[in-house]
Amino acid sequence: MSVKIKSMESLLKYPSHGIKFSTGKKKFDNTVKFVAAKNFGEKKKEKPVILKEYPYFEASPGEIIKTEKIWYVGAGATEELTLDTLGLSLSGVLKDAAKSFSAVNIEFDAEIENKISSDKISRLAITAVGVAVYPVDFLKSKPESGKIILTSVHFMVSSESIQAWEDILKVYSRLLNHINAMRQVQSLPANYITPDTMEKRARNMAAKFGLKISVYNKAQLEKMSANGIVSVGKGSVIPPRMIILEYKPAVKSSAKSIKTLALVGKGITFDSGGISIKPSADMHEMKYDMSGAAASIHAIAAIAELKLNVRVISAIGLAENMPDGAAVKPGDVYTAYNGKTIEVQNTDAEGRLILGDVLSYVDENYKPDFMIDLATLTGACAVALGSYYAGMFTDHADLKNLLQETSEKSLEPLWHLPMGPLYLAQMKSDIADYNNIGERWGGASSAASFLSVFVDKKTKWAHLDIAGIADIKKGFNVYPAVATGFGVRLLTELAMELANRKS
Ligand code: BES
Ligand code: ZN
Ligand code: ZN
Repeated sequence: MSVKIKSMESLLKYPSHGIKFSTGKKKFDNTVKFVAAKNFGEKKKEKPVILKEYPYFEASPGEIIKTEKIWYVGAGATEELTLDTLGLSLSGVLKDAAKSFSAVNIEFDAEIENKISSDKISRLAITAVGVAVYPVDFLKSKPESGKIILTSVHFMVSSESIQAWEDILKVYSRLLNHINAMRQVQSLPANYITPDTMEKRARNMAAKFGLKISVYNKAQLEKMSANGIVSVGKGSVIPPRMIILEYKPAVKSSAKSIKTLALVGKGITFDSGGISIKPSADMHEMKYDMSGAAASIHAIAAIAELKLNVRVISAIGLAENMPDGAAVKPGDVYTAYNGKTIEVQNTDAEGRLILGDVLSYVDENYKPDFMIDLATLTGACAVALGSYYAGMFTDHADLKNLLQETSEKSLEPLWHLPMGPLYLAQMKSDIADYNNIGERWGGASSAASFLSVFVDKKTKWAHLDIAGIADIKKGFNVYPAVATGFGVRLLTELAMELANRKS
């Protein structure tokens, strides 16, 4: 029997959603209509008027009644209506709709539009469509997700909000491919996605989106004393590397005021823990340990495609953290790119080692106005926040505010957590400048504080710990189960904000 194995090339083909979006009055035969259940004071929930025929329909989130031409979808009780309940309804029904209709209208009843602004509904709905048409079961010989036939989506919105919808559509219809592209590389397992194939991906993206690319191999990293990256990669047969992608906007007369945004990402394509090996339960999830790097390279691609007026640097450290005779051992000491000596007491705290080098390299050589790193850095952050927020660490009040505003706009959730000298004091080594682990409690904060050693105090830097939200067991909001693509919307909206700033 001849068996066809999918080639790496076909698996890494950049996704293209192919959906034609439009807005206005009813256009197609079939409609998906979102309904909120009204609740008048003490009285029992009143059934939505339109559904007198279906008295059992409570319009709770995700509940669906399918009639011949209209699917009624519950968005929850009006007073409990949140972006999360609406997001969950949207993603639930769209998965089904994507297999049932080639063209569909989407409508929200007035209750929903009154409670949640069209600018938020539109971002959520468009994202949900994008995610629904890109299931990640591409390694199944017969995908269970079924055949996606959806090619046209028409949003039935009031004439006052059409312009707002159209503006968001222009940006988000492009963003979708990059969110899905990130989900694609997150989902592929570690025997497919390695430092090698991530490099191939980055090279293809550089060509496709007109980015400059620089790849630093192991010998070059050794020469420049980026020994954090080198140490983490020592136990793997596939050498580690650092990749830098650059986007420069076409020069305008106001070139001087153009801001530089650096996006640094942790790209551990598999984290076994190394010699400090992890327990085997759930170790397979460590294929997602490259999610920060994936967010960084896919966000820069989105920014380049949108031709935003901001200079962007995407810098990723790639390595496979494996145990081996050549691997870094607990207690080994190396000298980092910034000259500090680091004692590696735990080889499983590897993300901070590669990020330290990438952060200090980018800070010194690109002098960014803003630097954001994304990393699935600590289990402790996931313990603190669950899978519903990324932890945000920054000492710069204006960057904190900027990120919080961007989080609200992009609908990607962040939660501010502390770092600082109290945590860093735990990481003193007897024989070197720093130890790579702190005390048991507050592990997300000590990891963030360790990173601060590699960034100039004046640099406006924030660290996002995405350990909880990069991959999730159960979908929430418009995030699907497993790979979420977290960060592409947030970072692109951040770049949009910086591009629009006058000073
Ligand atoms: N990649 C892990 C963090 C992680 C854990 C991400 C669970 C997602 C889910 C990281 O490299 C790690 O192993 N961190 C250790 C640090 C500890 C040894 C100080 C951790 O969190 O246990
Ligand atoms: Zn680890
Ligand atoms: Zn890790």
